Amino acid sequence: MTISIKSTIFICLFSSIINTAYTQQSIPQKVDALLKKMTLAEKIGQLNQYNGDWEATGPITTDVGNKLDAIKRGEVGSILNIVGVQHTKVFQEAAMQSRLKIPLLFGQDVIHGYGVTFPIPLAEAASWDMAAIEKSARIAATEAASGGVHWTFAPMVDIARDPRWGRVMEGAGEDPYLGSLIATARVHGFQGMGLGNLDAVMACAKHFTAYGAAIGGRDYNSVDMSLRTLWEIYLPPFKAAADAGVGTFMNSFNDLNGIPATANRYLQHDILKEKWGFKGFVVSDWGSMGEMINHGYVKDNYEAAEAAINAGNDMDMESRSYINNLAKLVADKKVSVKVIDEAVGRILTKKYELGLFSDPYRFSDADREKRVLNAPEHVEAAKDIASKSIVLLKNEHQLLPLSKTLNSIALIGPLVKSKKEMKGFWALNVGDEKEIVSLFEGMQQAAGKTKLLYAKGCDITDTSRAGFAEAYKIAMQADVVIMAMGERPDMTGEAKSRSDIHLPGVQEELIKEVMASGKPVVVLLMAGRPMVFNWTADHVPAILYTWWLGNQAGNAMADVLYGDYNPAAKLPITFPRTEGQIPIYYNHFNTGRPARNDNDVNYTSAYIDLPNSPKYAFGYGLSYTTFKYSNLRFSKKSMLKKETITISFDLQNTGKYPGEEVAQFYLRDMVSQPIRPVKELKGFQKVMLQPGETKTITFIIDKEKLAFYNDQLERITQPGEFRLMIGSASDDIRLQDSFELTD
Ligand code: NOJ
Repeated sequence: MTISIKSTIFICLFSSIINTAYTQQSIPQKVDALLKKMTLAEKIGQLNQYNGDWEATGPITTDVGNKLDAIKRGEVGSILNIVGVQHTKVFQEAAMQSRLKIPLLFGQDVIHGYGVTFPIPLAEAASWDMAAIEKSARIAATEAASGGVHWTFAPMVDIARDPRWGRVMEGAGEDPYLGSLIATARVHGFQGMGLGNLDAVMACAKHFTAYGAAIGGRDYNSVDMSLRTLWEIYLPPFKAAADAGVGTFMNSFNDLNGIPATANRYLQHDILKEKWGFKGFVVSDWGSMGEMINHGYVKDNYEAAEAAINAGNDMDMESRSYINNLAKLVADKKVSVKVIDEAVGRILTKKYELGLFSDPYRFSDADREKRVLNAPEHVEAAKDIASKSIVLLKNEHQLLPLSKTLNSIALIGPLVKSKKEMKGFWALNVGDEKEIVSLFEGMQQAAGKTKLLYAKGCDITDTSRAGFAEAYKIAMQADVVIMAMGERPDMTGEAKSRSDIHLPGVQEELIKEVMASGKPVVVLLMAGRPMVFNWTADHVPAILYTWWLGNQAGNAMADVLYGDYNPAAKLPITFPRTEGQIPIYYNHFNTGRPARNDNDVNYTSAYIDLPNSPKYAFGYGLSYTTFKYSNLRFSKKSMLKKETITISFDLQNTGKYPGEEVAQFYLRDMVSQPIRPVKELKGFQKVMLQPGETKTITFIIDKEKLAFYNDQLERITQPGEFRLMIGSASDDIRLQDSFELTD
């Protein structure tokens, strides 16, 4: 008896020492220990990601039979596209029946909200408000994590200079500086206080890389680009995401200069993992590994798996190339176990960091899910950023804001009463459609005694003019007309490229018809991309670009229309006059024969049938108030590399409404080898000013702001003159002067 008590005590003590030793182990030690226990098949399983059974966001490759059985056999490391505590739990329970009980990772495209839908990312980018953008991602993460999601395939940080590309809606627009700040804000938002917290989801910077430069704006198309452009324009937001601690990267469908991104060792291994020291893992895009057969890069999935894993692609999303071929590739000595261990180690590390080994069900709390989803403060934040995303493009004779004492307003257009459309592409079906506020409902809330009249007028793409007469009739009865026009939300997004980005159907005809009433007309344009709408731009007195604003769309639009919120958004992407100008972007080179103005076509770099300038420039957006820029001063006019220059100027609200201005700071390196763009955004400040108020704005110029990549891809500076430009838009420079870098 005595002996048995002693031995029991000994066993308890021993196992507690072992346990303590285990819990005190660092994550790398735990990963090593686990790797030692794993068979090759189990390791390969960790590299395999399957689509769940909720929805498919890509073509289903082949039937793999019962996925839960595959999970129990240890053949799956991650599942995408299942959401909700109950649902994810079923899959996790299957993983807990596998030999080593390695938890599954649940990934989901949480792109702009989860239960509460926020504005599409391009709209949020127009806010130039990093705190609001971070908050939107924070809330999306909180809600998604409460619904069992561990990992979001966001942010998309692809620079896009081509509005024909459907996925332009999912990014932050055309500028690498703004795009980098937004990438950082979104990663911080999603990952919160860090992986392991119950309200954090792991983020994924995608699509690595240059996916936004698909030739002709056609989704999935090839990319042909100089490495200097890659480093200058397309890589900075990815680097920013890596620096912000993003947990994962996703590669892209495109080839870059002939090498598919999925098998691109230069990108994934040399740049990302070696040069940038990225410690997370890389997932392929949906089926992109297998698609290398179509690219003509490999002959079959066996070669695809070999090329991808050796290039640094850790996880295979939905192509089955790894699960079906890696074991043979190891046996054939084409892939080393070391390479596999490294990939598996990266994935296991994230599972440990998320706390899934301690409790695989820690994101499966039904009470929390109920409490967190659609919380009132989330709805409030969605309205706040929706208002901040609306761009005032035109406001002749101060038509806006509307008076609250109007007798009647006519609401006309195919999108006036739309609800689910307000969510835009990449929205999840988690929330309740009833929660979405249409423009009509928003106006009903805000309009007080003003009578609201309604006519649809026409459809979005249908060419029937049958509703025009009714629209004209109610316009004639109203004091003011508000028209809600645009694309269908499924006209932007993945695989939604358009060659014609004009306002679709007969909508512009309807605008002409209604304008003939002689009534003051405000047009609201809803879309996921810049559209072409020249007649409207030239004739309609007031225009708001409202993108897709999410659940609170109607309330946000009403707030802006009535001036309860004074718009301050600025375009994060250039709006062309017509498709023929694409690609068009503000930070272009000057060329040897620059046109001096839009009519200067005499042997200049110009079109004889079209001005060079865009319809609306990058950084453009009006306010109900006006701002005066004055008194530019420099701490000194020349600097050494190790020095800085402080520049300041005064910004005054010269109108009658309180309002915010995004004051933008651009630089041009006047003479350099290689050449530099005519203008590059280097800083901005969003400043709130009361009527009559003046604030001094300061920017600091340091070496990094003057640096660029030379043809050896080294980051350098060159002495000489720099032009500094301060303004309200890239084409509305109010103050400028030069300074010198002298070493
Ligand atoms: C393909 C898209 O390109 C990618 O962005 C997305 O995350 C995956 N499908 C999963 O839905």
